[in-house]
Formats: sequence, C-alpha cells, structure tokens
Amino acid sequence: MSNIFDDLENDETVTTSIFKDKAPLDHRYLPDKLVHREDQIRQIAKYWIDVLSNVTPSNVTLYGKTGTGKTAASKFAREQLLEVARKKNVFVKVEYIRCTDYTTEYQVIAELCNKLGRDVPNRGWTKGEVVNTFRDIFRTNAFGKKLHLIVILDEIDILLDKDGDGILYTLTRTENVSVLCISNYLDFKNLIKSRVTSSLKDKEIVFPPYVANELADILSERAELSFNEDVLDNDVIPLCSAMAAKEEGDARYALELLKNAGELAFYEDSEKVTSDHVRRAKDQIEHNKVIEIISTLPLQQQRVLEAILNLTKQEDEITSGKLYDEYKEVSKKDAVTYRRIFDFINELELLGIISTNTISRGRGKGRTNIIKLQCDENLLETTLFSI
Ligand SMILES: Nc1ncnc2c1ncn2[C@@H]1O[C@H](COP(=O)(O)OP(=O)(O)OP(=O)(O)O)[C@@H](O)[C@H]1O
Ligand SMILES: [Mg+2]
Repeated sequence: MSNIFDDLENDETVTTSIFKDKAPLDHRYLPDKLVHREDQIRQIAKYWIDVLSNVTPSNVTLYGKTGTGKTAASKFAREQLLEVARKKNVFVKVEYIRCTDYTTEYQVIAELCNKLGRDVPNRGWTKGEVVNTFRDIFRTNAFGKKLHLIVILDEIDILLDKDGDGILYTLTRTENVSVLCISNYLDFKNLIKSRVTSSLKDKEIVFPPYVANELADILSERAELSFNEDVLDNDVIPLCSAMAAKEEGDARYALELLKNAGELAFYEDSEKVTSDHVRRAKDQIEHNKVIEIISTLPLQQQRVLEAILNLTKQEDEITSGKLYDEYKEVSKKDAVTYRRIFDFINELELLGIISTNTISRGRGKGRTNIIKLQCDENLLETTLFSI
C-alpha cells in the first residue's frame, strides 16, 4: 500500500516548493552569524578572553527586552570560545543553564556537578553537601590542569525571584568560576543583596531592541536558508520586520511571523508567500496568544474578564466601581475584595488584554479609572466559555 507522506512528497499538484528547510525558522536554531550583534558578542569575548591565559574572566550581565538576541549571542560566544580553547588546549567549560528549568540554587549546582561528571541526586542532599561537591571539582582534577568554568544563567530573574541570590553568592565565591547572567530587566540588581553585588562586580552589556532594518537583515539571512528561491513576495520581509519592530523589536516574533506566513502559503498550496499571508499569520499568532493567556489565568481573574466582557457588551464606560459590582454578580459567593481587583486589573493590563486610563472628572470630583478591553470580544467570549 502506498504511504500518504510519500504520496504527498511526490504529488506534483501539492506545492512543496515553499520551504527548502524549515529548521532555520525555529526559534531554537542557532545561526552561524548574528548580524547586528557583532558589538555585543565582541564585548563578551573581550571579557572572556582572560580565560585563555588561565585567568578567571569577569562576570558579565546581558540586559535586554525579549527577542533581542541575548540567548543567541551568549551561545554564539560560547561556541567561539570553546573552539579556540580546544586549539590552545585550555581547560575551560561553558555550561548553559536556563533558570526556568532549574529554579533553585540546589538544582543549578546539582546540574552543574552532573554536567561536570559528579553524580549528585536531584534532591535529598543538603545544600552544603552539593556546594562542597561542586567546589571540589575545582580543587582536584584528573587532568592536572586548572579547570575554568563559565556558567551562563539565562533568565536569571526567575531564579532570583524564587530562591534568592544564594546561587550568585556560591558561584562568585568559587575559585575559577565566572558567571554570565541574562536578564530581561534593567533593575534585576534589586533582587541581589550587597554582599553578592560586591563579589559579582559584573560588566554590563545592553541589547537594544532591533529596528525594522535590522530585523529585515536577520529575516533575509534565515529566509535564504529556509525558503526556495523567489517564493517570498518582495514586501513579505519588510512587512514582517515592520510589524515586529512595533512589537518592541522582537526578532523571535519576526521569525514566527515569517514562518507562520510560509506555513499558511504551504497549507493553501500557494506558489508564493504574500503580504496577505503575513497579515493572517499575525492575526493567528495574536489569537493563539490570547487564548493561551486567558485559559491559563487563575479563576478569579477569568471572572474579572467575564465581568469586563459583560460591561463591554452593554457598551458602558467601565469604571472600577462598576466592574466590581459586575464581578460580584459573576462570582457570586466567593468574590475577592475590592482591593484585590486592582491587582487583577494591573496584571491583566500587563498582559495586554485590557487597558486602563485614569481621567479626571473635574475639580473636586476626583479621578476615575476607565477600563477597556484590548482583545477581540468574540475571541474572549469563546475562550472563557470553552475552558
Ligand atoms: N542578530 C541576530 N541574527 C540572527 N538571528 C537572531 C539575531 N538576534 C536574534 N535572533 C534570533 O531571534 C530569536 C530570539 O533571539 P534570542 O532567543 O536570543 O532572544 P533573547 O534576547 O534571548 O529573548 P528572551 O529575553 O525572550 O529570552 C532566536 O531564534 C535567535 O536565533
Ligand atoms: Mg533568551
């Protein structure tokens, strides 16, 4: 019997000519050059170069908004460093830890031990035991050479927030270890106590958002690897870049747009990817994002949204007072306090689902918060009632 995939691959009427190779459009793909990040990579290299002369390099922190190439640049610098270190016979390891996967000091140190060949259980030991095992690696070593370790702590805010700054204290006070922290927030130092700041003494590198032209260069590089020749209409890359530049210069979003637009064209057996595909890809991505956010919200927040939805349908101006009344109606007995509702409103605004606007009612009448829905009404309704 014939196989459906074979058939599809051989079927001349099905356009399989959109993509050459989809892998480079995946957000985890590490390109072999990072345009417009040469300066930042060079700065990392200037700090790390000490390790090639057996000196522990400075600690480094990369800052920047989402999709500005921090993770990619750090991995790129790591590959480059390891390449020369091998040639020069320098004993250095660069371990990458994503702090969304390892959220406590114990877990990070245990993972580092395991990566460096010391078995440490995921739980059960005391923190002291794990730290001692870790430090031991730098005292003795079978190669008779000094091991240098650079630890990349990606999304460090999450770990600091959850488990405090102990991890930085331990790492920065271990001989031959240096860290490269990656953070989305410029104020992440607020999560660190002064005893740690003084041993961290990090060099900071900022990753600014990409502007449209830079995004276009990034996309062109990937498009060349991913799409067959001449399948992209001329306005596709500029449009993806312009849209992503509006989304705070996020390269991940730009790539997602391009990939989804290509997929739409592919599923529709279209010969070309057009700006129309890009626009629909944008709607689709936003749609999915909203569904994902709403369906994972805590119940009380969903009820606040339901109340906002009801008031929006009544075409009423939504003040916090009105919202609270409607919310109580929706949640009946287990309603939370009026104060809590303000937290919810802030959180929903941060997520971009609603907006608030404080207006003054005129002298002596105080100020009022006007709340507006920022996502599609029908989408919100179907999502809320299908959970
Ligand atoms: N200069 C660049 N050249 C080529 N690709 C890039 C460049 N910058 C970013 N990218 C790509 O864009 C995507 C997002 O980049 P990356 O993951 O490094 O962002 P980030 O700053 O770590 O974002 P976040 O803070 O959300 O983790 C990745 O697929 C990456 O390969
Ligand atoms: Mg990242």
